[in-house]
Amino acid sequence: MQRTLVLCKPDAIHRRLVGAIVQRLENKGLRLVAAKLLHANRALAERHYAVHRGKPFYESLLNFITSGPTLAMVWEGREAVQVVRALLGPTDGVKAPPGTIRGDFSLSVQNNLVHASDSPETAEQEIALWFAPEELVAWEPCDERWTGATAG
Ligand code: RTP
Ligand code: MG
Repeated sequence: MQRTLVLCKPDAIHRRLVGAIVQRLENKGLRLVAAKLLHANRALAERHYAVHRGKPFYESLLNFITSGPTLAMVWEGREAVQVVRALLGPTDGVKAPPGTIRGDFSLSVQNNLVHASDSPETAEQEIALWFAPEELVAWEPCDERWTGATAG
């Protein structure tokens, strides 16, 4: 079973869109295995976005992600990484198609509401960065055999 890190970024918290975002992940059949609200500091933001160091938008991105609260979550399900990326849509809210979270709620490249891991390997690293192992809760939804979330 695959896990992925999802962050509701500060714009999602300020705009009170957490409920709408979580609703879409739940509706899809994914299960929530960890969640916490925190205000990311510079060190955490730098580690999370290390791959973007040196890019023109790097400083602005760090200022944005450390500007307010973030809801960090881990979601689990069959092919969870690619499923959540598809639910988010492309980075730029203008290019994201209607029906995706960014397509429906964002007009911005930077303020695009949600982060999701882009590969299973990245997911493992990011989950370890944001959560201690004991913060992950293993459980089995009672409708698992109907959603096909495990087996395919
Ligand atoms: P994320 O990592 O947040 O899930 O988003 P992503 O994979 O779709 O986009 P990525 O290329 O990894 O960029 C990370 C975040 O940086 C901001 N960004 N700003 N101004 C710009 O050109 C620009 N490009 C990216 C966005 O907040 C993006 O989600
Ligand atoms: Mg990314």
